[in-house]
Amino acid sequence: PLSSRVKSLIAQMTIEEKAGQLTLMPTPWTSAAAAKINPEAALRNVENLTGDAQAGRLGGVFNGFGVEAHRKLQTAAMRGRLGIPMIFAGDVIHGYRTVFPVPLGEAASFDPDLAERTARAAAVEMAATGIDWVFAPMVDIGRDARWGRTVEGAGEDVLLSRDMARARTRGFQGRSLADDASVAACMKHFVAYGAAESGVDYNTADISERTLREVYLPPFQAAVDAGCATVMAAFEDIAGRPIHGGREFLTDILRGEMGFDGLVVGDYNGDVEIAARGLAADARDAARIAIMAGLDMSMASGIYRDHLPSLVQAGEVPMERVEEAVGRVLALKESLGLFEDPFRRMDLKRQQTRMRTKPALSLAREAAQRSIVMLKNDGDLLPLPRKGKRIAIIGPFAEGPSNLHGPWTLFADNKEAVDLASGARSAVSDPSLVTVVKGSEISAPIDGGIDAAVAAARAADIIILAVGEREAMSGEGASRDLIVVPSPQQALAEAVAATGKPMVVALRNGRALALEGAILNAPAILVTWFLGSEMGNAVADILFGVTGPSGRLPVSFPISAGQVPYYYAHRRPGRPTNARYITSKYEARFPFGHGMTYGKIGYADLVLSSKQIPKDGRLRVSVTVKNDGKYAAKELVQLYVQDVVASVTQPIRELKAYQHVDLAPGRSQQVTFDLAITDLAFLGVDLKPVIERGKFKLWIAPSAEAAGLAGEFEVS
Ligand code: IFM
Repeated sequence: PLSSRVKSLIAQMTIEEKAGQLTLMPTPWTSAAAAKINPEAALRNVENLTGDAQAGRLGGVFNGFGVEAHRKLQTAAMRGRLGIPMIFAGDVIHGYRTVFPVPLGEAASFDPDLAERTARAAAVEMAATGIDWVFAPMVDIGRDARWGRTVEGAGEDVLLSRDMARARTRGFQGRSLADDASVAACMKHFVAYGAAESGVDYNTADISERTLREVYLPPFQAAVDAGCATVMAAFEDIAGRPIHGGREFLTDILRGEMGFDGLVVGDYNGDVEIAARGLAADARDAARIAIMAGLDMSMASGIYRDHLPSLVQAGEVPMERVEEAVGRVLALKESLGLFEDPFRRMDLKRQQTRMRTKPALSLAREAAQRSIVMLKNDGDLLPLPRKGKRIAIIGPFAEGPSNLHGPWTLFADNKEAVDLASGARSAVSDPSLVTVVKGSEISAPIDGGIDAAVAAARAADIIILAVGEREAMSGEGASRDLIVVPSPQQALAEAVAATGKPMVVALRNGRALALEGAILNAPAILVTWFLGSEMGNAVADILFGVTGPSGRLPVSFPISAGQVPYYYAHRRPGRPTNARYITSKYEARFPFGHGMTYGKIGYADLVLSSKQIPKDGRLRVSVTVKNDGKYAAKELVQLYVQDVVASVTQPIRELKAYQHVDLAPGRSQQVTFDLAITDLAFLGVDLKPVIERGKFKLWIAPSAEAAGLAGEFEVS
């Protein structure tokens, strides 16, 4: 129900003012980079929006920079006829000025509590600059590594994505939206954006209703249940029905079934683009279809502002529908405390004191350490000694301020991030033993680069090869048809590896990669994603054993690029041994859940509390995990299940629970899971949840495709 303040405002508004509230505009992108380090540029940037703000033609603005710019716009809005505050949004996907790992990297921590803490820290910073509303969390499942936006989500798994969606929502929103350090969250992109065909961003998706409900909806439901205030519509269409114009998605499923009662915002021009897709004849038609579908607020296109007044006048859109949407915008502003104090998140002092605080930077380092995944460590090459060895760091990611933050860090300054060379130099006892050679650009060879790299490798005892993708190779509009390390870097890797020197590969990446040749065959490989402000320090912490690696892959790394889309939880083929490629098996090179520690981990004594679980019962599963190594380890114990016979065939394995255990050298610990019978539900033939009797297989395993320890039980 709307408050009396909101009702009374709506009663006083003209249709033009109502359409204005439903309009969200960007600050000009062109000067965004200049604006973030130059408050005057930030102010100039919003200059041409102040007129609209005062005239009531704007509900809000996004990606503006800093308190002064936000204040300027808010002051103009408050001078307007009804004095309705604007709302300020921002794409703060993994940190504002303190940058945390890209969400895919952070998902490798398998630690929702950590994700909640980094989201909270990001909220504290952005809210200090006037931002009330964050366009995150991105909760799209990413099963196609070609799709660049897999970097923004929690990977391929439904359970992990649900847990991260819930945690990030809580972190952003805190205990109360009215808190000056809280922001409204926006789960996005509803829905199945990650299913874009061929991994091409903005493309059509063609998925079954079952896949929609089993795979893509659950993370959104988790965010809804956590109280997520807003949702953003996805750019794509599902089987010919663009989401921005699809009432079945934005109203029937989202509100009718999932119980969402917040604000639905469009993605950038996504509403007017339904005309380009062929669902609407023109912009006016697109506005009519989108608002009737359930899209409350239009982003960037301005089509609501331009066309709703005439659509209402012509009787093509009922005023009640417009008022319903306006009510949601005003209710959001009210819950953020903007009517009490429109400037509550705009405090110059807080903008200075809340940025890059010591606790935030130490959290960034912790999150970065926890995101790193060790794929291989043949001959225990890692951790490296901190003393007495000459180390050559080779590759385009060895040094320099770029490609540390990752995509979507509009407000952070690259120069403030720690690169790999600096991290390594501060970790070793004699920094003069560290040499750095670029060897190759990211996508092009350097004249004489390989010779210089080989010379440095020969003169060193250990090589750290820093190769991978530039940050612009993932993120929005950054799909790749070949998910490999670009060929000039592969050539560099082959040449350097041929020296025979021990080589650690430190991969920079925003997606799963298909590794080949000398990179794949290196004795040690770390997946280091884009880790943010503390990247170099965190990678050095792992390389030199300040702390051990504990991350696990949230996405499967395939054997070859041609396997994509590849995900572990596929259904069982009828001919398991023949379902393969001529040259390789139908399995991952490094599966979901894989990741090594510096310990020597073993699993034993799998015990199930019962062979049969009654319909309303629980199964207690316990296992002993031991560390026979000489380093402490944080092991992720994973529990997978397969429903052996069901009315709808079930995935080969599904992650049902996971738990970390910290093991000192020589220690063992029992880990216990309580599997609820409801964890075994699936969508039956009628797409309603059902638990069927029969046999289940269960594994405690170090990855989705590792043998692990197996057990069986029955639902009776
Ligand atoms: O929030 C983003 C969205 O994820 C993709 N398109 C642009 C929006 C606003 O910048």
